Amino acid sequence: MPPLIRHTRPVDVLVTGAGGFIGGHLVGALLRKGLSVRAVDIKPLDQWFQHHQGAEPVVADLQRWESAQAVMRGVGAVYQLASDMGGMGFIEQHKARCMLSVLINTHLLMAARDAGVQRFFYASSACVYNAERQASPGVMPLREEDAYPALPEDGYGWEKLFSERMCRHFTEDFGLATRVARYHNVYGPHGTWDGGREKAPAAICRKVIAAKQQGFRDIEIWGDGEQTRSFMYIDDCIHGTLGLCASDHAEPINIGSSELVSINQLVDLVEEIAGIRLVRRYRLNAPKGVAGRNSDNTRLRTLLGWEPSVTLREGLEQTYRWIHDEYMARQAGRSPLRAIAAS
Ligand code: NAD
Ligand code: GDD
Repeated sequence: MPPLIRHTRPVDVLVTGAGGFIGGHLVGALLRKGLSVRAVDIKPLDQWFQHHQGAEPVVADLQRWESAQAVMRGVGAVYQLASDMGGMGFIEQHKARCMLSVLINTHLLMAARDAGVQRFFYASSACVYNAERQASPGVMPLREEDAYPALPEDGYGWEKLFSERMCRHFTEDFGLATRVARYHNVYGPHGTWDGGREKAPAAICRKVIAAKQQGFRDIEIWGDGEQTRSFMYIDDCIHGTLGLCASDHAEPINIGSSELVSINQLVDLVEEIAGIRLVRRYRLNAPKGVAGRNSDNTRLRTLLGWEPSVTLREGLEQTYRWIHDEYMARQAGRSPLRAIAAS
């Protein structure tokens, strides 16, 4: 059964994956710009990370062609963030599920083409980059051309790279204007912080909070802690996404922080914020992904005269506080803090 679309009047923007982390923040930002927004996700409404008054929420499985067609009716522009994904713990163990997101992208691109949508944004990932360029912690920042020759993250990265190319060919063959961001690890409030899909910043915050609350003296870290990443705060992610979509840049582009840290340095920062020191137990056979990854922002700076600037310390303070409140609410048996935001 196709999803029920409440209104038949046109909407400025369709945000898919709107019940998730980045999608939830993006809906808020678009509403604040005065745009009308249709917000779609497969999750039941009570599991959406944020609700925004003024958006039109729709629950639909976008792997299905008829759902993609139904949600596209009357839409001006699309922000496509729906994906069955997570951090290393999820994507290393669910490769087929990650690749099935190709159905979401394919059906949404076809529906957007058929509906005459003006612009289609696609959320790609730093996981498209060639693994051989990420083989040591002291990596060179990744430039956009480093995605080829192709050797992306198995499963999830291949799907992202394929879908990027589908965007490109929909532009060339059908004239659909597409914009593609390669996000580097994004973190912040209202993201996944437990359950298996969480990424390192949220996972480390949760583990430190749990240790503090329950009186543990140690913490489990995946890998040897020497692997490196750059982490982008959500406000920068939204700013860069809106800037890219307003630009004429049709090629995939990095949107990521260039502040490189090791996972041990990430843990140091969270411990400082929490005011605690813990003994680290390194689980060497845990999912690790690449040894090092950083974002080269040369192209982004040229395009927008801007690059992500929220420091990891600043962003983690906000994130830690939010996860702390969620954790305490759960311990007290209260439902998570998903208050309706008046955008
Ligand atoms: P998220 O998991 O919080 O949000 C994705 C949403 O998509 C979820 O709410 C999920 O329910 C929804 N979804 C999954 N399958 C669906 C389906 N069949 N139909 C409708 N909705 C479906 O993830 P996020 O962190 O907000 O990421 C958003 C996008 O950005 C994803 O495409 C992701 O691959 C990409 N990305 C994120 C990061 C990051 O660090 N967060 C990094 C690189 C790329
Ligand atoms: N998730 C997690 N949980 N990672 C941990 C933990 C932990 O408790 N402890 C250490 N790590 C290490 C992982 O082993 C990995 O080496 C590193 O922290 C980063 O892990 P993630 O944050 O889970 O993922 P990622 O950076 O390898 O990849 C993420 O970012 C991509 C974009 O840059 C994923 O979310 C991808 O889906 C995303 O596209």
